[in-house]
Amino acid sequence: MIGSSYKKDISKQGVIVLNKAASFVSDRYRLLFAKIDLISRKEDKKVIAITSAVKGEGKTTTSSNLAVIAARDFGKRVLIIDGDYKNPSLAIRFGVKGSLGLLNVISGECDLTQGLTTGPVENLSLLTMGRQVRRGESELAIKGNAHIWTENGIQKILKEARLSFDYIWIDAPPILPLFDMSVISEAVDGIVLVVKTGVTPEAVLSQAVKTLGSNKIIGSVLNCAKTSWKYGYGQYKYKYDH
Ligand SMILES: Nc1ncnc2c1ncn2[C@@H]1O[C@H](COP(=O)(O)OP(=O)(O)OP(=O)(O)O)[C@@H](O)[C@H]1O
Ligand SMILES: [Mg+2]
Repeated sequence: MIGSSYKKDISKQGVIVLNKAASFVSDRYRLLFAKIDLISRKEDKKVIAITSAVKGEGKTTTSSNLAVIAARDFGKRVLIIDGDYKNPSLAIRFGVKGSLGLLNVISGECDLTQGLTTGPVENLSLLTMGRQVRRGESELAIKGNAHIWTENGIQKILKEARLSFDYIWIDAPPILPLFDMSVISEAVDGIVLVVKTGVTPEAVLSQAVKTLGSNKIIGSVLNCAKTSWKYGYGQYKYKYDH
């Protein structure tokens, strides 16, 4: 997995693999992507949600870095979607300001193509949460996660996006507290579970896995694992690992 010896908050560096393409951390993300790619091609999975049991375990960090690696280093046509209405962070992470995005597409203010932001590397498109729609203007914007994940929300967008991209990563909400993950499970082909070392109690984790349905889980990413390596890393665990 991806660990880190970074004592500093790496979100301040945006998406780390953009600035440090030739680093050990980037190598770890390349390895992570290669493993996910292997499973995804075998099982024909294209839409992959990144989630975690609780907030703050590294979902945005993992999905953003994977998206850049897949597009820049593996030449895949990649879309990353901000799927966490309560805590949208993709735009900030990529340094995008004032863009149209998911909420604008869902509410019909623009079409998907207009809602996308391209870059910062070739082959990569971002669908940020977009402008907050004014109160009263959109039911969807007010009701939050349960509603952006509906048939008329992300699910509809995915149908269209599947035609133009090799991979669609979704920076999803955390499983707890109490968001109905079956909605997300049904909408995507696979799920990667980010687990922050030493944070998530085992009982919470196994409950989370139960909620997701294990047939969709591609693997887990152990984030922020302490190691004796200079740059540190954690471990990956995949369904085909023995
Ligand atoms: N491997 C890592 N090494 C160092 N810092 C990390 C690592 N992974 C994540 N972080 C930092 O931990 C914090 C939480 O990470 P991130 O925002 O990716 O989590 P999240 O699961 O998306 O959070 P939220 O649930 O709030 O959306 C961020 O400040 C991020 O920079
Ligand atoms: Mg996040």
